[in-house]
Amino acid sequence: MATEYKATPEDKFTFGLWTVGWEGVDVFGGATRPAMDPAHAVGRLAEIGAYGVTFHDNDVFAFDADQGAREAAIKSFRDAVDAHGLKVPMVTTNTFSHPIFKDGGFTSNDRRVRRFALGKIAKNIDLAAELGAETYVFWGGREGAESNFAKNIGDALDRFREGFNTLTAYVKEQGYDLRFAIEPKPNEPRGDILLPTIGHALAFIESLEDSEMVGLNPEVGHEEMAGLNFAAGVAQALWHGKLFHIDLNGQHGPRFDQDLRFGAGNLRGAFNLVDLLESSGYTGPRHFDFKPPRTEDEEGVFASAAGCIRNYLIFKERAAAFRADPEVKAAMERSGLDELATPTLAEGESLASVREESFDIDAMAKHGFAFEQLDQLAMDHLLGVR
Ligand code: GCO
Ligand code: MN
Ligand code: MN
Repeated sequence: MATEYKATPEDKFTFGLWTVGWEGVDVFGGATRPAMDPAHAVGRLAEIGAYGVTFHDNDVFAFDADQGAREAAIKSFRDAVDAHGLKVPMVTTNTFSHPIFKDGGFTSNDRRVRRFALGKIAKNIDLAAELGAETYVFWGGREGAESNFAKNIGDALDRFREGFNTLTAYVKEQGYDLRFAIEPKPNEPRGDILLPTIGHALAFIESLEDSEMVGLNPEVGHEEMAGLNFAAGVAQALWHGKLFHIDLNGQHGPRFDQDLRFGAGNLRGAFNLVDLLESSGYTGPRHFDFKPPRTEDEEGVFASAAGCIRNYLIFKERAAAFRADPEVKAAMERSGLDELATPTLAEGESLASVREESFDIDAMAKHGFAFEQLDQLAMDHLLGVR
């Protein structure tokens, strides 16, 4: 077992500027840390082994920045990114902080706000393309309501779809090499948010004009807030070819969005997830979207960020050891994993052949699957005792 875990560019570890830059403002208290200059954040992220950095438009320049201030802020950020050899694989828009977005951006009942939001997003899509981003994320934190009569869900989904169709058409027209990724979340900051889970978003994507350009950016904590198994959801997203990006963090079950560092919270879930990502051929960024607790000073913030990377690499090592263990291979065979990969009907068979087959029902009823033995091997590997 290693004790030093060093990130390589192939790991593609990326961080949002808003993560280490979070000042600690929450609903019960103000900032506990000063604002962090994006260029400074970039330098410190490079030090801990980050491959890239991501941002919302207003993480780099203020909502009301004039042209000059906007350009100067982008230049300072860009210079730092280039100086440290980092990439900007993903960009997103802030359509949730300003008071005009209190009822959402894509789905505000106020048509003026929806029109403004589309323009704001398009402008930042231009910047994303200029910086070489491959993915543009849409987290609709304010797209929802606190009460059911406030919003006609069907109309809201029509407007959501109209927004996506308008923006994918724009990307195609501009010839940008950019895909969209929707980030589901069940609630917070709205009482209920539209497209609350991976499943809802997958179904919505199929209704879009350019559905092949739109996939998912699922976040660990968001599915777990809904009581769902994140790794299982990600496995289904992969099966649909829709895992375009991923937000890694930690969460202790259904409660407020904790955004803990990756590996904190649901340890087994994190292990299952890394095992899945590493064995699935997923080649996108491993993007950390966490909030260093407001108890931490700057050193604590980057210790927390470094912890995200370290935990991922520990899980990666433990998952590889688990997969390579001959006893695990034998246990998987006993548990019938290969058999599930075999089609139920043989080539050329029809339903009639199974209807006529005689089954040993007693033997089938008695058959144990040995899942517990297999799972204990996983536990032993995760805990480092094998
Ligand atoms: C959350 C969200 C946000 C989004 C980010 C991208 O914690 O609710 O994860 O952090 O990912 O704002 O738009
Ligand atoms: Mn979150
Ligand atoms: Mn996120």
